Amino acid sequence: TLDSRSGGPGARRLLLWLLLLTAWRAGSAQLRYSVPEEAQHGTFVGRLAQDLGLPLAELVPRLFRVASRAGGDLLEVNVQNGILFVNARMDREALCGRSAECSVHLEVVVERPLQVFHVEVEVRDVNDNPPVFSVKEQKLSIPESRLLDSRFPLEGASDADVGENAMLTYKLASNEFFVLDVINKRGKGKFPVLVLRKLLDREETPQLELLLTVTDGGKPELSGSVSLLVVVLDANDNAPVCDRSVYEVKMYENPANQTLVTRLNASDADEGVNKEMVYSFSSLVPPVVSQKFAINERTGEIKVNDAIDFEDSNSYEILVDVTDKGHPPMVGHCTVLVEILDENDNPPEVVVTSLLVPIREDAPVGTVIALVTVSDRDSGANGQVSCALTPDVPFRLLSTFRNYYSLVLDSGLDRELVSGYGVVVTARDAGSPALRASASVWVEVADVNDNAPAFAQAEYTVFVRENNAPGCHLVTVSARDADARENARVSYSLVERRVGERLLSSYVSVHAESGRVHALQPLDREELELLRFEPRQPNPDWRYSASLRAGMHSSVHLEEAGILRAGPGGPDQQWPTVSSATPEPEAGEVSPPVGAGVNSNSWTFKYGPGNPKQSGPGELPDKFIIPGSPAIISIRQEPTNNQIDKSDFITFGKKEETKKKKKKKKGSKTQEKKEKGNSTTDNSDQ
Ligand SMILES: *[C@@H]1O[C@H](CO)[C@@H](O)[C@H](O)[C@H]1NC(C)=O
Ligand SMILES: *[C@@H]1O[C@H](CO)[C@@H](O)[C@H](O)[C@H]1NC(C)=O
Ligand SMILES: *[C@@H]1O[C@H](CO)[C@@H](O)[C@H](O)[C@H]1NC(C)=O
Repeated sequence: TLDSRSGGPGARRLLLWLLLLTAWRAGSAQLRYSVPEEAQHGTFVGRLAQDLGLPLAELVPRLFRVASRAGGDLLEVNVQNGILFVNARMDREALCGRSAECSVHLEVVVERPLQVFHVEVEVRDVNDNPPVFSVKEQKLSIPESRLLDSRFPLEGASDADVGENAMLTYKLASNEFFVLDVINKRGKGKFPVLVLRKLLDREETPQLELLLTVTDGGKPELSGSVSLLVVVLDANDNAPVCDRSVYEVKMYENPANQTLVTRLNASDADEGVNKEMVYSFSSLVPPVVSQKFAINERTGEIKVNDAIDFEDSNSYEILVDVTDKGHPPMVGHCTVLVEILDENDNPPEVVVTSLLVPIREDAPVGTVIALVTVSDRDSGANGQVSCALTPDVPFRLLSTFRNYYSLVLDSGLDRELVSGYGVVVTARDAGSPALRASASVWVEVADVNDNAPAFAQAEYTVFVRENNAPGCHLVTVSARDADARENARVSYSLVERRVGERLLSSYVSVHAESGRVHALQPLDREELELLRFEPRQPNPDWRYSASLRAGMHSSVHLEEAGILRAGPGGPDQQWPTVSSATPEPEAGEVSPPVGAGVNSNSWTFKYGPGNPKQSGPGELPDKFIIPGSPAIISIRQEPTNNQIDKSDFITFGKKEETKKKKKKKKGSKTQEKKEKGNSTTDNSDQ
């Protein structure tokens, strides 16, 4: 089409003419036409002959033609009507590439005369090329740690067209992470750039696909697109995390070494070395705890590594660090609570603290002898202790407070029967199986002087030759005392009495300690014979009394028949010797030291010749005065018809006789009574 822009058709044509003529005359005149690329064959370009002022009739005769075809046979002229038309498809981009201007130059000639005309046919661009990206997909690797507003240049698209048809507009499909910025570089086109608007998180979005589209400015516009694959690279931004923040474990004490306590299981959301991790005890774990356990740094297994004793500690808190191998590393934490359960591994303990040992045999029932403390280091039933005592001891356990007991006297003691008790306190806990322990204490019974001495024989019968040598040994008497030590020490003394004109002590003496009885002068045979033949009126010459030491509660009186003697006027009236018992030390009894000798701790009286209180024969005296003592001793009067046989108290002569007399005595209760030691109390009546 002829480029005609101004005025009406007439004026335009006139102007063209003028221009053409001017060009013609200058010899460099040019005709210019314009045709869009890609125009079809035969598309009208311009009325060439007409525009050159050549009459149509002359065209053929003057051989009107296109002489040089720089662009090949793209354009042709119709010699009939002189019109220039498109002969072949013209691709502007093929003809001219990306140059903004594109035209085909033609030389048109006529001959006779030869004339050459220059014709420029501009090939106009049409939007026949879409913008294109060099690849279908662009891959971007972006570390997740990149900051906001970080920029990532993209490869732009290209468009083979020119001008508006190549004016590209980029557009990014909407997404939450990136926006698009386009940099316009003068003369070099536009460059798309991704800008980070939201922080990336590989663990959440390991990669994302974006669509970048581009459109040109043609009408209609053409577009292209590229897929952007954003691969998010890992950064060590995740600490390892245990599958439980607190692991609670219960286990019995005394586990075997290397027993598994628990297995930790941590995970790390990162990748590669960033997720490789190492388990360790926290530095906050005190050595006393970390010694007890071992952790496998790779598997997270915690095992027992030392003795675990409930009584040491009944729980452990273990803080564990899990550290990954990233740079810098990140650390996760978890806690293991190990509760230790009690086992009955401690026997009870018993401690007996003696208080009152030895214990006096006269101690009252209820006396506290020892304190018993039991304990057990275990807890619960394993630590509940019950206490028991050896059977058959006169003691019992009295619970005072929880595990405290008193060992108290439960019944009376008698040292002379049992001098001591092995007492075993057994403690037993309530665990299963139960453990037990015992402690023993020897409870010695301390002597109290509660036993009077007793002669081995009630009677000693001695035969003495007449005219015995003075000082000869007559007999040795011996008494025993069931008490112990000092309380058992016995001394002997003579119960003084008058024998005829003289005192018994002038005839015989007894050694206080040995009990040896010696004659002090020759004994008269007649006296002996006389006595022998008058047994019914016995005349005991001397008696022994065993005395107790100072403060003793009792005394024993021994009647001993030895040598008998009768005065010239018949046998002396003899009454039993009475030795007072002194039941109370404070009864006014003065007690000389042990072994002080005759009459030391006993009262002796006799009745007979020389005794002013002598009664007539057959009469019984009712009272006796004890010389040197304010005491008066009364004798209980038997019924008058009951003649007291004095031989009850005194025997003499041969043993056979003694036996005979004893036989005779049987049947008489009163006699029997008097015969016994009880006569002391029977006869005394203060
Ligand atoms: C550790 O935990 C993960 C998930 O947290 C689980 O898949 C895996 O089986 C666990 N491993 C062990 C040994 O328990
Ligand atoms: C427990 O076993 C470990 C490893 O064999 C050892 O090092 C440790 O000394 C053992 N502990 C005891 C108390 O035997
Ligand atoms: C002494 O007398 C008491 C009571 O009268 C009696 O029970 C006891 O058996 C007597 N003792 C002796 C040794 O005869």
